[in-house]
Amino acid sequence: MSHQQRTTTPGTELGGMFPRVFDTEYVTITRGQGHYVWDADDNRYLDAISGNQNVNIGHGREEIAAAAKEQIETLEYTSSMLFANEPAMEYTAKIAEFTPDGFEHTWLVGSGSEANESAIKMARQYHFERGDERKYKVIGRRRSYHGNTAGAMAVSGFPARKDKMEPLFQNFPKAPSATPYRCPYCDGDGGRECGIERANELERIIQDEGAESVAAFITEPVTGAANAGAYPHDGYFERVREICDEYNVLMIVDEVMAGFGRTGENFGIEHWDVTPDIITSAKGMTGGYTPVGGTMPHRRVVEVFEDLENGFQHGHTYCFNPASAAIGKAVLEYMQARDLVANSRQVGAHLHEELQRLYKYDFVGDIRGKGLMLGIEFVGDRETKAPLEDTGERFQNELFESGLDNSIITYPTGGHVDASKGDLTLLTPPLTIDEADADEIVDRMDATLADVADELGL
Ligand SMILES: Cc1ncc(COP(=O)(O)O)c(C=O)c1O
Repeated sequence: MSHQQRTTTPGTELGGMFPRVFDTEYVTITRGQGHYVWDADDNRYLDAISGNQNVNIGHGREEIAAAAKEQIETLEYTSSMLFANEPAMEYTAKIAEFTPDGFEHTWLVGSGSEANESAIKMARQYHFERGDERKYKVIGRRRSYHGNTAGAMAVSGFPARKDKMEPLFQNFPKAPSATPYRCPYCDGDGGRECGIERANELERIIQDEGAESVAAFITEPVTGAANAGAYPHDGYFERVREICDEYNVLMIVDEVMAGFGRTGENFGIEHWDVTPDIITSAKGMTGGYTPVGGTMPHRRVVEVFEDLENGFQHGHTYCFNPASAAIGKAVLEYMQARDLVANSRQVGAHLHEELQRLYKYDFVGDIRGKGLMLGIEFVGDRETKAPLEDTGERFQNELFESGLDNSIITYPTGGHVDASKGDLTLLTPPLTIDEADADEIVDRMDATLADVADELGL
């Protein structure tokens, strides 16, 4: 079966763009409304991945355009190094009501990478100011993605996205992946005991590195691109918290994708009874309407910075940008007025249940996630969990193209098995969808997987 004809533009002819890949053909997306987008031929696609897991309130919302226009006409920019601005004060105050107890401040930046970069530096300076000047290492976890700036890469455990760049940054130690589906101690159902055992691996790394050199541990609560919807056994995060306390290591939770309602709680970590030291977020904060990220330290971290004459030794031109803050505030108001976090929980549970139907395909190994942050892991052998033979580019391209043929946008990813193999897709639709929309996603995914099976002989 060949793919439907769609108008595409080669990577070499995209105006003045330096495209991600020159040697590829791009479909041009021209407009969006709700959870649909249209291409230049007016083909409509169901956006089952919210743009890039960020368009959480759907496309084309007039309320957000109005808030942006009003703020840009009033004051588009002022330097946060020199002045305060009202939208940033109002937005961060609103975030403080949305975050768990103890989180009252947000350091507002322009992306998820910057939010994590800021968290890494904040953790380092926190220890420095307290006299623990040797603490600088930030331990990450294998099969995690924290961004593309140097610090964020250094803590990411996603070889496919970093291996060519490795000489450029410190490659900090990594704790093993804590995914139940590929747990070395159980078949995925080991529960608390396995959660604690996996967390104890972090303790051994801290001891090995020397606790006096370790500043922080960073983890996604529910993993995004690096492991599509996977999250550890219960007991894992609770034990991580104990270990961090014991060794004076800050616990950073990367909620760039999971935060702001995506998993059916305000923040993913709230699925467990654990309070981290720093939360980072981005994506859904502004719903894709403007680039924003935020680093939210707990009060006990903030206290160290309160008395510093020269403050936090970090900053960007676009920190606390008024236009972005006004948009972020409007997006949060939009979410709250429609109770989208609860909707994510309820419709996510429905979608998760209906997706079970896809287990009829032998190459579907695991369907997982929380709220509307769901993922599918594909395998060559369901029994042994061995990756597909066509693992990587061929399978993932096929999945994406077949998705477009069936009018649905998927997010193929992988490389989580043995650093290069393994295939996944995220399913992360806007938090505004209802159960009928969820059913449409399942129907379209079913048709997509049937085509993939045909094409690859699965
Ligand atoms: C969990 C997580 N952290 C950090 C990032 C980096 O965010 P950005 O692409 O906005 O820099 C991403 C992006 O996909 C992410 O999913």
